[in-house]
Amino acid sequence: MIGLNEKDSQLYIDNVSLGKIAEEFGTPTYVYSASHIRAQYQKLQSSMAKALPKNRQPLLCYACKANSNLAILKLLQNEGAGLEIVSEGELMRGLAAGFDPQKIVSTGVGKQASEIANALEAGIRQFNVESLPELEHIQQIAAAMNQSATVVFRLNPDVSGGGHHKISTGRKRDKFGISREQVFKGFQMAKDMSHIHAVGLSMHIGSQVFTVETFRHAFEKLPEIVAALRAEGHTVSRLDIGGGFPIVYKDEKLLDFDAYATWVNDIIVPLETDIIMEPGRYMVGNSGILLNEVLYIKETADRNFLILDGAMNDLIRPTLYEAYHDIEAVRKSGKGTKTYDIVGPVCETGDTFATDRELPETQAGDLIAIKSAGAYGFSMASNYNTRPLPAEILVDGDEYAVIRPRQTLEECLRNDIIPEFLQK
Ligand SMILES: Cc1ncc(COP(=O)(O)O)c(C=O)c1O
Repeated sequence: MIGLNEKDSQLYIDNVSLGKIAEEFGTPTYVYSASHIRAQYQKLQSSMAKALPKNRQPLLCYACKANSNLAILKLLQNEGAGLEIVSEGELMRGLAAGFDPQKIVSTGVGKQASEIANALEAGIRQFNVESLPELEHIQQIAAAMNQSATVVFRLNPDVSGGGHHKISTGRKRDKFGISREQVFKGFQMAKDMSHIHAVGLSMHIGSQVFTVETFRHAFEKLPEIVAALRAEGHTVSRLDIGGGFPIVYKDEKLLDFDAYATWVNDIIVPLETDIIMEPGRYMVGNSGILLNEVLYIKETADRNFLILDGAMNDLIRPTLYEAYHDIEAVRKSGKGTKTYDIVGPVCETGDTFATDRELPETQAGDLIAIKSAGAYGFSMASNYNTRPLPAEILVDGDEYAVIRPRQTLEECLRNDIIPEFLQK
């Protein structure tokens, strides 16, 4: 089986029971399906292979902020993926996982000097430039290193793309990208810059984009802009059309990839450029769960609380984005159901994964899976309340391995220093 499935009234990831994983590695623990991630990559790739000509197949640069564990990166690198990075740390991860630097694109509104220098040194494919001061900064660093920096400009289309206001990135008021006018100015400035090679445009409108219509709306101005840039003598040989492909959290109707691929073929391919995509959540989101144990059942006059050992520091999406995650008992008891609020131990009312969820009647010690947690789960985890980062396990068919051990409390405390003037 691929991904999360049920067998003999128990939840499995691929062919490995979650009960067994909890026994062996404890909880809270992230568990991912390698086969699911592979299948997602191949599904996107084959939709494009069907719809687009051979010489216009996109480079799929995995947005590794979604889940940057080296094992996940290696898995996708083995599939032939490229990488989208937003920091020096992600560059290090990409190189450590063996990505060809010519398949790495650097995005983000606040690229720092060392980040730019290291990316130039590594020889990445391109910088997606998000402001004109950033362009000047890249020129300065590239000149000092005597390296040429290949850049594309991120266009802000002023369209709301994301499923939640905090994951929408393409509106005029968002910090991302630059206006049409600034794109033209950027190309003009680049012409006079000794170490900048401007070759195209990028656009990413947000996450959880469900309809081709939304993409169409955002990208409809692109052909005219490309033509106008070319008319002014600028090179537009690359278009990076971002990520935003959705996954299932509840009962969402997902983007029709074949329709999307047809749209890319109709709108982007005629512009005769190389094409890059930056899928993040789509690659890993539905591959993973957060596995928890129930510590206590607390019944009050108002509510029944299921208190888990996992908390908002392990998975912050519900409290940060009011995100819905489906939640299931790992072993189906066959008993009646009850309505619970599912919470963690952290000292915040916001440490609530879900309210009013119907689950089989549950006892302390039972295991609970929080689903669709493979993206923006571990990568956003913290040590809040001095809770160690959870373990991560990768399952691949019958095989499984720890891809990050649970952090120890010693590791949590190791870097704190009590200064001498307090040691009295
Ligand atoms: C520039 C850029 N590309 C790609 C992504 C990935 O988005 P998603 O995970 O929705 O595919 C993001 C997400 O923040 C992004 O900012």
